[in-house]
Parts: sequence; structure tokens; C-alpha cells
Amino acid sequence: MNKAAVISPDMKWWQKTIAYEIYVKSFKDSDGNGTGDLNGITSELDHLKELGVGAVWLTPCYVSPQADNGYDIADYYNIDPAYGTMEDMERLIAEAKKRDIRIVMDLVFNHTSNENEWFKESRQSRDGEKSDWYIWADPKEDGSAPTNWRSIFGGSAWEYDETRGQYYLHTFLPEQPDLNWANPEVRKALQDVAKFWADKGVGGFRMDAITYIKKPETFEDGKPDAGDGMVGIHSMTANTSGILDYLHEFKSAVQEGTDIFTVGEANGVSASDLGQWVGKDGVFDMVFEFGLTGIDLPDETNWCETREWTLFDFKSFFDDSLAAADAAEGWFPVFLENHDQPRSVDHFMPGEGDRIARAKALAALLLTMRGTPFIMQGEELGYVNVNWPSIDDYEDISTKNHYEFAIGEGYSEEEAMEGVHRFSRDSSRTPMQWSASENAGFTTGTPWLPVYPDYSVFNRDLELDDPDSVLSFYRELADLRNKHTELIDGKYQVMIPENEDIYAYSRDNGSKKAVILINFTDKDVSYDPGLIKDAECILSTVSDEAAGVLHPYGAAIYEMNSH
Ligand code: GLC
Repeated sequence: MNKAAVISPDMKWWQKTIAYEIYVKSFKDSDGNGTGDLNGITSELDHLKELGVGAVWLTPCYVSPQADNGYDIADYYNIDPAYGTMEDMERLIAEAKKRDIRIVMDLVFNHTSNENEWFKESRQSRDGEKSDWYIWADPKEDGSAPTNWRSIFGGSAWEYDETRGQYYLHTFLPEQPDLNWANPEVRKALQDVAKFWADKGVGGFRMDAITYIKKPETFEDGKPDAGDGMVGIHSMTANTSGILDYLHEFKSAVQEGTDIFTVGEANGVSASDLGQWVGKDGVFDMVFEFGLTGIDLPDETNWCETREWTLFDFKSFFDDSLAAADAAEGWFPVFLENHDQPRSVDHFMPGEGDRIARAKALAALLLTMRGTPFIMQGEELGYVNVNWPSIDDYEDISTKNHYEFAIGEGYSEEEAMEGVHRFSRDSSRTPMQWSASENAGFTTGTPWLPVYPDYSVFNRDLELDDPDSVLSFYRELADLRNKHTELIDGKYQVMIPENEDIYAYSRDNGSKKAVILINFTDKDVSYDPGLIKDAECILSTVSDEAAGVLHPYGAAIYEMNSH
């Protein structure tokens, strides 16, 4: 019997929509200062609307000295003048709402900027009101740092402060001192920040670097993991026991009774512990796990060592995470890129194959996998990595530090640059390419980061007019999700798991079943017609349905009645 497709009534708004990440600095500049801004975003909301986007995650746009492009916040309650004013933000929230789009704020709560008033006060003395708001520790007897921990961006994770005669901890840059969540006043202050933004009408929060907020009771040296005698801080402080208590407290103080969603950036959380993090007993609605983006990188500190991976590893990531999220009655954020990751076309389908086909194949996966898809700005246009020749061409501080680390470990300049080309965060941060006009229509000034030269071909305006473009394909997929709602609420099941070339899976909501087939190789591969018996092809890229063949990087989506 052919039952009418209805989307499960108990699904939340953010489970049914498409999310989109905006790197505010690079999206659209409205005032010619070379930096993207809030009014620029407001002017392009229709681009997002037409992509089916219902939630827009803004990277931090609060007052910041920009040591880490806004992830170092000096004032959580105000907008950085480079990005606009609070009125601009209110207008953005309101204009977005008119289009059924909710704004998602990035809450950077593991640390602040060293220019935040809280930190300025904390560093003044050992017994002031805020002296305990950050992680302070005495030097070792010889005056050196309390432990041998290496920060995530390289170098010691401790910075000496003359006034207090103590060191403070920074998981990331020295300009990003870690807050002390063990202090209830700090937790309360952070809850107040979140409530302030909730009251402004935002729809969600992305919780930055959240697995680092709880520190161990005592600080001890770890076994060195590289020639610099240090150990990565991640292995010493991530997911410290008791962290979930803080986050449960946050959830009940901030989120309960609202329709706001939360998504935690949960480096170090894998499928096996997902149940504690998401779902009915969890602390967030979703968490970003990094098993997939780290598929080729065994050690985040060292970009020169890569790991061979196969399509089986890729499939396992989704199999395991979706099973775990479902078991917890939780939900999954699907992402292939973000502002810290390389472009997915180069990451997951490397090689010389047709770039447009590769981008479309990955788009097919992103928008048909079970979960809320997060598109990274530019992904919908088919961006690839920047391959700038010299380390001096790069802007990102973490890229520079990774390069230095590699040189320090004895890698050649060429090897260090290969790592940079593969993993630099600048690849996902180049300005948005709106048109073929100067600076890709991003700014009338000088862009803060060079526009990628392919903008004359890959840009929004041209792709909009081209029915075969990556952008047109994204729009078709967004439309398809609304028409074939099993792509939103259907259960996921991997098919032909042993096939090493094709990723095939189904989405079945009990009424309709979609079968998605994606060729991950640069050769023709055929599939068993039995997989799609009695099914109708509802979308395909380079493939020959009649012959049951997917051409290189081809993707096809079929639909049939559920059995
Ligand atoms: C997160 C952000 C990254 C930032 C870091 C420090 O990983 O995504 O961009 O550099 O936290 O805040």
C-alpha cells in the first residue's frame, strides 16, 4: 500500500532543517573594510533561504582582539565594531526569522580573550574577587611551567604572569586563557551570557571546545609524545570525569523550556560515549564528533603524518555514530567541513577527478544522511583547498604553528608545506565567491584573506544560472528533502557494506524508502539492480540508471515503497 509521506510529528524544528555555517569574517562585506559583517549577512539571507537553510551558525562576532579570529572573546555582550552593532544583530535575527531562519550563536566558553575584563581582573592579584576565575598554578621549583602540556596550537599550554608570579593555562593560544569552570560564579556568569542571547531570539548554540572545560584535580606531567618533551593537552584534560555535571547544570539553567538547540564541539567524544552526551539523558541535542574529519590524521599535532583510509572506515563512522545516536534517542549533526577543516572535495575524494562531480557526490551524502546537515559556506559552490606556495601566504595562526612544529621535528620544508596544503584552516576561510566581479563581489575594499582565484568560474551568480552547477544540485537536494521526507525522518541502514567503491544506504520511514548510491572512485562501477527493484530514480549525477552504472563520482537516489 502506498501510504502518504508525513514527517514524524514529534520531530523538532532543528531536526528537520538544514544548517549552514557562516564564517562571519569571510561571508560578505557591506562597508568596504575588507572584512565580512552582519549587514552583509542580512543582505544575502535569500541565498540561504533558497538552499533550504533554517539555522545559521555564526562564528563568533563578539568584541575580540582577533588573535584567533574571534574565538578569543573580550566582551560577550557586544558585537565587534568590525562586524557591526547590536542593532545590526537584532535586525539580522529579525530578518532571518521572517524567512524562517534562526540564528545560532557560537558560545566560546572554555576560554576568553586575555583582554576580557574578567581576565584583566583575575591577573591583578591572587586574592581578588576574580582571582579564581581562570586556571592559575605555581611554577615548578625551577621556575618552569607547572606541567609539560603542549597547547593545541603548539608551544607550552602555560603562560607566565609577572604580577601574580604564577602561570595560567591556555588550551589554545596564550591570548586565550582557560576559564575555571570549577568556580560556580564562572558557570553562573556563562549561563547569564547564554540567557542574554536566548532572550535576543536566537535559535541555537554551538558550544566551542566544550570537552576541555573541566580540568583534572591535580596537574601532572604527561609522557612526552614528541621531540619537544611535551605532551598534547588533549590527552591530559579532554573529557575529565565530572564534566557532564557542569553541562547538565547549563542545560537546565539555559535551555529547558525553550526551543533552542545545542550542538557541542566535542573533540574526543566518539560513538561509544555518545549516549551520555546527546539524547534524552544527554547534555546537548547534538555533538560534532571528529572521527570522520580525522580519518586521515592519526595525530592532530602532526600534519605530516597521515593515515591511509578506505571507504570501509568512512562507512563505519556513520554506522557507529548513527546507531549510537539512535540508541540514545539523540540526534546527529552531519558535516564534512567546517572552518577548522579542509575542503571536503580534497579531503574525502582526493585526486584529479572531475571537481564538480566530486562536490555533487559529497553533497548527495551530506543532504541525505540521517541527521541535521551542516553546510560550510562555500561548500555549496564546490570549493577546494587553497594551495598557497609559502607558509607566509597563510594567515591562520594554527597553520603557522603546525608548520613550525613540523620543522622543529625535523621534517623538510616541502613535507611541512604538504601538511599545510592538506589541513590548513585557511582553505575553509577564504572569502565567499558571490560573482565574477572584482574580489568575487565579497568586498569593495581589500579582502582580509585573498579570494581564491577560481572565482571567475566558481561563484554564486554563475552557478545560479547553470543548471549543472554544484549550487543548483544543492538546491535540488534541498527541494528533494521536502518532497521525499524519508530523507529527513527515515531510519538509516547501510547496504552492500562490503562494497569497497560504493557507499550505499537506505532511509526508510515506514512509508517510503530511499536508496542512496555514491561512487567514491574515479572509475565506472556497476551495482546490483536488485538494490533498486521497483524503485524510481529521483535524482542522479553522472550515472547510467538503465545500465546500473555509476560513472566516476556518480551519485543516484532512488525511491520505493517501504515493505
Ligand atoms: C574551536 C574552534 C576553533 C578555535 C578553537 C579555539 O576548535 O572551532 O576555530 O580556534 O576552538 O576557540
